[in-house]
Amino acid sequence: MAVSGIAIGHTPFFRTARSDYWWAEWLIPSLGLLTFLVIYPTWAVLQGGNYSFGNYLAPFASPELFGSAKAWFGAKPAWYPSWLSGSPAMLALWAPIGFRVTCYYYRGAYYKAFLLDPPQCTVGEPRHGYWGENFWPLLLQNSHRYFLYFALIFLFILGRDAWDAMWFADPATGKEVVGIGVGTLFLTVNVTLISGYTLGCHSLRSWIGGNRNQFSKIPLRAKCYDCVSRLNGRHMAWAWASLLWICSTDFYVRMCAMGVFHDYRVLF
Ligand code: FES
Repeated sequence: MAVSGIAIGHTPFFRTARSDYWWAEWLIPSLGLLTFLVIYPTWAVLQGGNYSFGNYLAPFASPELFGSAKAWFGAKPAWYPSWLSGSPAMLALWAPIGFRVTCYYYRGAYYKAFLLDPPQCTVGEPRHGYWGENFWPLLLQNSHRYFLYFALIFLFILGRDAWDAMWFADPATGKEVVGIGVGTLFLTVNVTLISGYTLGCHSLRSWIGGNRNQFSKIPLRAKCYDCVSRLNGRHMAWAWASLLWICSTDFYVRMCAMGVFHDYRVLF
């Protein structure tokens, strides 16, 4: 389908009449996105080892499909491609990554950060027209709702990881006992923040509240819609908090696995 661009008045690139620190509002999120949305996750996903420490599993290696004895499907089978030597979750991580990359908030943020489209409001951009998301590969952004279905499944997977992080082998008896370690806290806060982010999704809000004119006839759905709307109102905050925390949690587990950090814990 042929689509015409909309011509816009052109201010020279990076020029503006603004006298505030608009460039800091562009630079800081850009560096944050580059570090926590691109560099660290790419590094973590490419790591094939040091992703678990006792009952802790690094989030970028979850679900552990193949690998250790605790993996969902046991050791890597003969057919497993050797070039997929990174995280044991490599076959599944396309879902949460796709969900985040197509998120309405992140789209606006990384268009500003990386495509400078525009860098900030009323600041000159490099293009002379506006084309929207009407062409490939940006048409893929419309798949956000489908990624949402998979992202909801991941909440259970990460919840299970947090649950497992509460069960430790007693050093004296070798039996499993309940406890809380620093890693338990990391993994529990991780699933909490990712739930706040996922359950505040714009697509989920439209899924729950769409096609209904009279909420009074569906009180349970109206309650759910209220909850999602409340989370949605702070979607940007949830997006950043969950992004920073998942990277921190992953880093913490890897550092414990490498013997760099000591995991303090209390067993009951
Ligand atoms: Fe951000 Fe759906 S809009 S997760």
